[in-house]
Amino acid sequence: MKKRLSVNLNKKNVGDIVKTPSGSLIVGTYEGSFTEELRKIDTVSGGHLKKLRKLGELKGKLGEGNYLPALPGVRAQRTYIVGCGKKGKKLSRQDCVRILEKMVSAAISSGASNAFISIPSLNVLGEGDDWIVKQIAFLCENNSYTYDAKLNKKNQKKILLKKVSLTINSSVSLKKLKEGIKIGQAIGRGSNVAKDLGNLPGNVCTPTYLAKESRSAARKYSSLNCSVLGEKEMKKLGMGCLLSVGAGSAEESKLITLKHNGGKKTEKPHVIVGKGITFDTGGISLKPGAAMDEMKYDMCGAASVIGTMQVIAELKVPINVIGIVASAENMPGSKATKPGDVVKTLSGLTVEILNTDAEGRLVLADALTYAKRFKPESVVDIATLTGACVVALGHSTSALLSNNERLAQKLLKAGTASNDRAWQLPIWDVYKKDLDSNFADLANIGGRAGTITAACFLSRFAEEYSWAHLDIAGTAWMGGKAKGASGRPVPLMSNYLLDQS
Ligand code: BES
Ligand code: MN
Ligand code: ZN
Repeated sequence: MKKRLSVNLNKKNVGDIVKTPSGSLIVGTYEGSFTEELRKIDTVSGGHLKKLRKLGELKGKLGEGNYLPALPGVRAQRTYIVGCGKKGKKLSRQDCVRILEKMVSAAISSGASNAFISIPSLNVLGEGDDWIVKQIAFLCENNSYTYDAKLNKKNQKKILLKKVSLTINSSVSLKKLKEGIKIGQAIGRGSNVAKDLGNLPGNVCTPTYLAKESRSAARKYSSLNCSVLGEKEMKKLGMGCLLSVGAGSAEESKLITLKHNGGKKTEKPHVIVGKGITFDTGGISLKPGAAMDEMKYDMCGAASVIGTMQVIAELKVPINVIGIVASAENMPGSKATKPGDVVKTLSGLTVEILNTDAEGRLVLADALTYAKRFKPESVVDIATLTGACVVALGHSTSALLSNNERLAQKLLKAGTASNDRAWQLPIWDVYKKDLDSNFADLANIGGRAGTITAACFLSRFAEEYSWAHLDIAGTAWMGGKAKGASGRPVPLMSNYLLDQS
């Protein structure tokens, strides 16, 4: 059980900043001028900061950091000063997050158990101070994440920070600011749930494991209910498409449903569906070996659904939300699906599987058909679906495709506001013929625009409701030295669902 980080807010006056004892004090400075807090520190420390500025330190450039050990007249054991750029300048959300991230990482890396962050007055385009505290609370949780589930005690990275006190001089009500903190923290925790599931290796995080974790989430939150279908039940229902993906694996495929009952019984639910391929070898269309380990992350869509459901439950959001996880392991084997095999979907359409590595769309197709029974208000699926998406948008931006422009705009807006951005791609009819097959109703691959044709495939199973698809192949995890899950798009999805209440 991980210890919870406490983040609290007090509206103090500037004098308290120097008088309050803390392990580390974090303050901002503008470029070319001190903030009010810094002027106070300068005064009590006998002009120490002005001297430093004369030496060329404390420039205040956006995102720049200065570490100062104990200062005379200041009760904090150390002080960290973060540059906020020119005073009064309008900041983009991204610039503001850069400043806040610097502040939070100073608090975490200082090694102190309690930090005091004085949030400077910042002018963020389109957002107020409640947004700033929400972001900082999110970052406190999100950036103090460590993965150590499978590490020896002595190799675990210890985060010593336990308590963060924030102050802000704001015209926004304390109630609204505290609400922002609560939301930000919940979203941060939900992101960390998604990261933990993503980072676990494929030999631990199987479809059965995802089912177990979903059940335990339902025990933790009274608004959540969990039900799980195994292969036998899915076969009975006619989910031949989903089942074809796990056919080569010894691990049983699962369809997991997590319901949050927050609204009236008569209100239509918002459905979110996650791709949960707990390992994607490509199947008989085997992937090359290089970096194949990263295909343990092919269940990050599912992880974000499980994480988001916990955010919604924790915040007791007064709407109905249903999370569906379509989970299988994609393996070669004597019973595995072969290129050219034709399977029957739950919708009745048949699919010619030309490439067993295009498996995500196969599990999602049946899950999207299954979603119809809930008479959804809307359905959003989340999937690490295509390598092409990484080519198109890189690692900073998720792809969004939708059959409903209003829904698309809501999701784009939620992504912008939570700094978890997506960019829309078209799913016009011109792409749809790429999936024609001579041997079934449609083929599972075709065409050059990989992300778009994948979404076109999905759209065939989502014709009866408002639907959107998020391709998170580039954003769900980072490769290289700092390899690890990102927790995205939990912020986007949580924000979107909060907006619906
Ligand atoms: N899980 C992969 C997509 C993926 C690849 C995500 C690399 C992130 C990094 C998916 O199942 C897949 O293999 N897609 C194929 C589809 C192709 C066979 C049409 C791809 O993108 O190469
Ligand atoms: Mn694949
Ligand atoms: Zn995959």
